[in-house]
Amino acid sequence: MLRKPVVLITGAGGEIGHGLITRLAASGRQRIVTLDLTRLDPEIGKMVTREFTGSILDTALLERILAEFEIDLVFHLAALLSTRSEFTPIMAHQVNVEGMLTLLEFAQKEGESHGRPVVFVYPSSIAAYGLPDAETRATAGRVHEDQHTSPTTMYGCNKLYCELLGTYYARHYKQLSASPAASRVDFRALRFPGLISAATLPSGGTSDYAPEMLHAAARGEAYDCFVRPDTRIPFMAMPDAVEALLKVAAAPRWQLTRTAYNVGAFNPSAEEIRTKVLEAFPGAEIGFDIDTKRQGIVDSWPADVDDSAARADWGFSPAYGFDRAFTEYLLPAIKARYEHEAGTPIAER
Ligand code: SER
Repeated sequence: MLRKPVVLITGAGGEIGHGLITRLAASGRQRIVTLDLTRLDPEIGKMVTREFTGSILDTALLERILAEFEIDLVFHLAALLSTRSEFTPIMAHQVNVEGMLTLLEFAQKEGESHGRPVVFVYPSSIAAYGLPDAETRATAGRVHEDQHTSPTTMYGCNKLYCELLGTYYARHYKQLSASPAASRVDFRALRFPGLISAATLPSGGTSDYAPEMLHAAARGEAYDCFVRPDTRIPFMAMPDAVEALLKVAAAPRWQLTRTAYNVGAFNPSAEEIRTKVLEAFPGAEIGFDIDTKRQGIVDSWPADVDDSAARADWGFSPAYGFDRAFTEYLLPAIKARYEHEAGTPIAER
């Protein structure tokens, strides 16, 4: 019996999954199989061929997926984000690292069974960086992939190690065995900045202040930002993040000089984000109530990243700068979303 060719998305119910599935389904070119701990939003669920509910650590479930589907492409999105991981570091290790190992082994087996490499796309993070102090951060400029990779968070350690694990599977898998099993994993990681989506809110991240500020204002709720007004880290609008995942997945192998690439789009301060949100929602109440511990995490991340390798190797080119992200994507989509939810135009509430 022939297995059906599909793309597998883990953590499909999360923020990136939501955007990626919507975009993939619109192109109509690939059938999608998903894995998540909980059921997908019905709106997203109807876009996929098959939805598996369960853990990425459940090897019996993965065997079932392998038996039924032929997978050439994996987007392994399942993870616990940085703030959440600090509260439950053991669980973070299990999900973020052991889950990754299970999925890489699954991809290797899948590739062995159909005789072609499985492209394995992995969202890494600016959390993979760790800048030691404010002075280094202020003078670091646009940080290159190989600089300052000493993360201080559990999540950052997990992400950096998973990049190494992926690279091991792609380049050195079982290098000492008598008959080396040819690597069947073609690993490609993107170090994402903070992501901002109009459709969903992240949960458990430390860059969450930007999307939270915007969504609170659109809902007419007051919000206190938990980092200082001058805090500056890179961000990206979700459509560019999704586009980047698809682009790196589709790039010819020979064009890739690295396994992990920085990608960035704009890097406003928290105050600049607040100003932009206030321009759109003049009545919004946005204050600052600084959480010094979460501030410490953000302060260990670079203020900007050097993404020239991604631009040169596979044509990364984000469509949305700071202004355009708001005027052409975030604001129209977010206003439509909350008006639709409340059944009342925001202007009239
Ligand atoms: N957005 C993520 C977080 O804040 C960073 O990758 O955890």
